[in-house]
Amino acid sequence: MDQDELSMNEIKLLMMDFLFAGIDTTAATLLWLLVYVINDPTHQPRLQAEAAAIVAAHGRLPTLDDFDDLPYTRAVIKEVTRLSPVAPLGLPRQTLEDDTLAGYHIPKGAQVIYNIIGIHDGVYDAEFRPDRWLDAKSLGIMDGTTSFGAGRRLCPGVHLAAREMLVLVARLFACVCVENAMGDGVKIDMAATFGLTVLPKETVLVKATVRGPRVRDLVVKMEKVEESERTVDAWVAQSAE
Ligand code: HEM
Repeated sequence: MDQDELSMNEIKLLMMDFLFAGIDTTAATLLWLLVYVINDPTHQPRLQAEAAAIVAAHGRLPTLDDFDDLPYTRAVIKEVTRLSPVAPLGLPRQTLEDDTLAGYHIPKGAQVIYNIIGIHDGVYDAEFRPDRWLDAKSLGIMDGTTSFGAGRRLCPGVHLAAREMLVLVARLFACVCVENAMGDGVKIDMAATFGLTVLPKETVLVKATVRGPRVRDLVVKMEKVEESERTVDAWVAQSAE
């Protein structure tokens, strides 16, 4: 904490932390999102309509510039993190001094684990209802939820996660229709298995069908734009050297 600069080794370890803490959590959340969306067919048309409006208005796939124009997509992602937090016990803490909470004595040095699902259950019902966040005008991914932890050690990747998931989900539903590959209308088992992250117990097999030839063109166009942006970035970086 008192050092001015990080060593190369510390930077490498931090990058490893970000990769380990950022990939599984985001992937598991997106997997749960597919399960919820496939199991209740009312959500997919709304996600598609929101993404399609952006495609129609701008002639491109959704990007971060569309953050404010994707309220339902944001509400769906937030509702998934509320009902299926993929790291439901956060990371353990240790108390610095004796304390008393709700009449319970907690000694100094005790390991404390908080229960995100328990906290959410005490406040909200168990129904998957993204509209609750639209009704409450509460789309901030951490407003009223603790899916990314709490306090000074809360997830430092929360804003990156919220944004990358938004772009991914919006682009996904702009491009494809998803259904259970085990049969149309067959529900995916919601049972979970606890590991590094909480995942569906059953292997989730999703069938994705391209929504139309136009989105294929858009994907190709987007890849070209992003490729040229990378080239520009490389050129700017080179010129600055
Ligand atoms: C949906 C995606 C994610 C979820 C649900 C999630 C959730 C969490 C939770 C619950 C914690 C424990 C916080 C606490 O104990 O208060 C945590 C810690 C952490 N997360 Fe995330 N996370 C996600 C994505 C990411 C991403 C994208 C990154 C980085 C690129 C990241 C980096 C970290 C790191 C480094 C920690 C440890 C922080 C510390 O101990 O000080 N996470 N995350």
